[in-house]
Amino acid sequence: MSNVRPDSMARITTPELAEKFIEEQIAEVRAQVGDKKVLLALSGGVDSSVVAALLIKAIGKQLVCVHVNHGLMRKGESEQVIEVFRNQLDANLIYIDATDRFLDLLAGVSEPEKKRKIIGGEFIKVFDEEAGKLEGISFLAQGTIYPDILESDGVKAHHNVGGLPEDMQFELVEPVKLLYKDEVRVVGKALGLPASMVDRQPFPGPGLGVRCLGAITRDRLNALREADAILREEFDNAKLNETVWQYFIAVPDMKSVGVRNNKRYEGWPAIIRAVNTTDAMSATIEEIPYELLHKITARITSEVEGINRVLYDLTPKPIGTIEWE
Ligand code: XMP
Repeated sequence: MSNVRPDSMARITTPELAEKFIEEQIAEVRAQVGDKKVLLALSGGVDSSVVAALLIKAIGKQLVCVHVNHGLMRKGESEQVIEVFRNQLDANLIYIDATDRFLDLLAGVSEPEKKRKIIGGEFIKVFDEEAGKLEGISFLAQGTIYPDILESDGVKAHHNVGGLPEDMQFELVEPVKLLYKDEVRVVGKALGLPASMVDRQPFPGPGLGVRCLGAITRDRLNALREADAILREEFDNAKLNETVWQYFIAVPDMKSVGVRNNKRYEGWPAIIRAVNTTDAMSATIEEIPYELLHKITARITSEVEGINRVLYDLTPKPIGTIEWE
């Protein structure tokens, strides 16, 4: 398959078109792979999840999925990967909890680019070590999508941290490389993946590492994860997940004075970011009903240990990037 999407290729918008694509890809993958084994780094993001589901359908246990939990996942994400792929789809899934390795390396590191490099480098190391333990792997599957090909020498190059080393001696299997994101989602639904996985927001490879600002500590990371889970739950309940493109919490490395149970309570602020965009190059701020903001504030400040204030970031992009880093 070439790396250029032919003009004649119809946009995949319906379950029928998705089924047709899936059948074609199953035949193509089987022809490419034969009876050999394929390795896939399964992050739980939309693209790698759809590739995994497609390959499970095409070659079953010849696919070996490796899920590395770097300790910077959102609440419940690694658990969902295990539930969907190991329990429901009966995949050959290797789960590695590398939380301590990542957090130990990141201890005391506050510079954003350095944090990204550490996370990306360690990810490759962990994945490489696992790949080295496996025998008979000939192919590496990747969730490359068409915008990745179009942008590979563009602005988002730094986003490919968490990508895999180029010197790996595998032939690539990239079944969704000519698809746009919306098409990948349609294909994922046709493959039976849950909506909560297929409709997921974009999530940086370095995960919560770019939202736990400054030097990451376990207690602040936990506070961020819990506050983020509350924000997502409340947005889902209010159906804002259908209209807001990306929403999350960032927690800076600073404390302020508060009061809880009549006692001084020093804590971190949780910053809400909720933006709409079409291409992530610019973004506008969503009008969130005040009532909901009050509810989220009440829940986060009462349920999350260590948080004593909630702020709403009103800054569009530009000038603010979407992530705080
Ligand atoms: P910024 O912060 O540059 O983010 O305005 C633009 C979009 O890119 C996402 N982002 C990433 N996505 N790997 C990714 O796949 C990354 O390392 C990464 N960093 C930022 C960000 O969440 C936003 O949607």
